[in-house]
Amino acid sequence: MYGLENEDPIVKYYDETLAISGESEINWYLEKVKTYGGPVLDLACGTGRITLLLLRQGYEVASIDNSEGMLNIFKKKLEKELPELRKRVFIEKNKISDFHLNRKFRTIICCDSFFHNLTVKEEINCLNCVAEHLRPEGRFLFNIPNPPLSFYHDAQAQKARYSENENHIL
Ligand SMILES: C[S@@+](CC[C@H](N)C(=O)[O-])C[C@H]1O[C@@H](n2cnc3c(N)ncnc32)[C@H](O)[C@@H]1O
Repeated sequence: MYGLENEDPIVKYYDETLAISGESEINWYLEKVKTYGGPVLDLACGTGRITLLLLRQGYEVASIDNSEGMLNIFKKKLEKELPELRKRVFIEKNKISDFHLNRKFRTIICCDSFFHNLTVKEEINCLNCVAEHLRPEGRFLFNIPNPPLSFYHDAQAQKARYSENENHIL
């Protein structure tokens, strides 16, 4: 489980160093949403980097994540947005394998996160929840990242540089 933003470096530096998917993968999601439409459900939304882009494009988005720290960062980003955008987002702290929002979506996305279902049972539960929340013509889009070792090496080096700048050891 990801920790709090002032305690867990993974959370604190997620956007700068640890976000696995880059621009091309995110654009893939944005293009697919353009095709299949909103409303969108962003599973394991994290710091909201994809949800925010979708909101700025005018979509209605519901976002779920089980980390208070990641959601706190997301909420701080939202404070800088216009009220019109903020009213189109619904955020819930919950597991992606056990949620019931009582509404259906045209597109459900899960970027870099499906593997956070740690057992086959959780994977199946997550897929059942997805099925429960998809409209008949809806689509579920997810990716399974497989970054090269150099990604983790670079992320560690970058994290160390950030912490040096802050003058403390993580
Ligand atoms: C690699 S990050 C991806 C975040 C976001 N989708 C993105 O692309 O920036 C993984 C996210 O999954 C969340 N997470 C991990 N296990 C989860 C679970 N069982 N239910 C809900 N969220 C979970 C973490 O809190 C974290 O925000």
